[in-house]
Amino acid sequence: MATESVKAKMVVDKEFQISEIDPRVYGSFIEHLGRAVYGGIYEPEHPTADQHGFRQDVLDLVKELQVPIVRYPGGNMVSAYNWEDGVGPKGDRPKRLELAWRVIETNQVGTNEFVDWAKAANTDVMMAVNLGTRGVDAARNLLEYCNHPGGTYWSDLRKSHGYENPHNIKVWCLGNEMDGPWQVGQKTAQEYGRLAYETAKAMRLVDPSIELVTCGSSNSNMPTFPSWEAETLEHTYDVADYISLHQYYGNRSGDTANFLAKSMDMENFIQTVISTCDYIKAKKRSKKKMYLSFDEWNVWFHSNQQDKEIEPWTVAPPQLEDVYTFEDALLVGSMLNTMLRHSDRVKIACMAQLVNVIAPIMTENGGAAWKQTIFYPYFYTSVFGRGVALNPVVSSPKYDSKDFTDVPYLDPSVVYNEEKEELVIFATNRHLEKDLEVDIDVRSFEGYSVIEHVVLENENAKAINTATEENVKPHTNGESYLDDGKLVGIFPKFSWNMVRLQKKN
Ligand code: AHR
Repeated sequence: MATESVKAKMVVDKEFQISEIDPRVYGSFIEHLGRAVYGGIYEPEHPTADQHGFRQDVLDLVKELQVPIVRYPGGNMVSAYNWEDGVGPKGDRPKRLELAWRVIETNQVGTNEFVDWAKAANTDVMMAVNLGTRGVDAARNLLEYCNHPGGTYWSDLRKSHGYENPHNIKVWCLGNEMDGPWQVGQKTAQEYGRLAYETAKAMRLVDPSIELVTCGSSNSNMPTFPSWEAETLEHTYDVADYISLHQYYGNRSGDTANFLAKSMDMENFIQTVISTCDYIKAKKRSKKKMYLSFDEWNVWFHSNQQDKEIEPWTVAPPQLEDVYTFEDALLVGSMLNTMLRHSDRVKIACMAQLVNVIAPIMTENGGAAWKQTIFYPYFYTSVFGRGVALNPVVSSPKYDSKDFTDVPYLDPSVVYNEEKEELVIFATNRHLEKDLEVDIDVRSFEGYSVIEHVVLENENAKAINTATEENVKPHTNGESYLDDGKLVGIFPKFSWNMVRLQKKN
């Protein structure tokens, strides 16, 4: 070890189970915004584009991430979107003013193209309906178009567009951030609650097998949080399966210790939403449990200023193109840990977004696709974080930062994959100067040995990747070892780690 270390302890036991992890917690999001669709997943002139115009280099990176579900088409954009504009012969599709991001939407990609893309990416679609400018009618028609087998106006229209079989989209969002003043068609809690309930009722009549997400607050700083949740759930509790949470963090003041602690805010946010759901459950004497869909989460602040300079009414300008730093990747790792520790209630989560727009994958128009720093914790957690989340009993030294007290330096999550006989520990070391030497009691994992310790570390908190230079990438020289039945986890200062143990046969 290069630097002095501090000690921490952890007990991990097969019996301390939180829940089976729903793979959809590793979901993502593609909005018609900036270069996410046009120049991101779709660029017919690109050398790697297939016959549908989908970039294969992007698809390869998406497949690497093993993303199980992708939310679409927005986001703020959905609140003024006419889905009918995006189906049928491409030549007939109208160009529209897209009000949320003040661009021109060409509608060359719509519902069917996105379903095709999702198939190619081995992922499911999570579809949002417009409850801003529209409502029950447009939502039930879109659902009929997508999921009804045939013999009706909208399902036959789908067939006439070349899609004989229904898309069978299972998860549907009842609008987006409807509490936000920036939202076209913003609603009060009462207005939204009633509209979401009636929309859900009609949608369930069309297809009872769907799952529905009701809108929670746009973030935990909204003045109406959490009364928005309580008031809207009064209406939607019985018809919705999930309530949405959205949260983005930034390091505007350049205070790294405080920034790394922001996953504690996410922790509070999740706990408050769970409490609010359970309060409504009690109030309604309901037997049903409301689950959480954290369907927008990430770091977002780097591009705020440059976005103010973008000319309005252009096609696919470079909006929200945050270039992520090394410290951003650590917070992303901790946000994933936080959600895994709540896997009994957080069943869906979408990293926002997937390509070019606050994204792990970036592209150059006509050029390369490349991995941002945040790609790595997302990749490893998605690929290896499958199974049962275990509840680690952690004893770690702590620090205080500007906004948080008692921040543990050690921030872990633990996953047990019974089928593969694998135990995986994800851990962020928030200590900026010292390594953490963690004494990990893995008493119920006899016969297991360390097969891999991946470390993401960097001397420079602000290090970034570019299309030509990968400055932030993991190495596999982590130093964890087993000593007399105990695992000693050596987590370098200011790092994100994955330690994988497997049973020896
Ligand atoms: O992801 C970017 C935007 O953030 C989404 O359109 C909106 O839902 C949120 O405010």
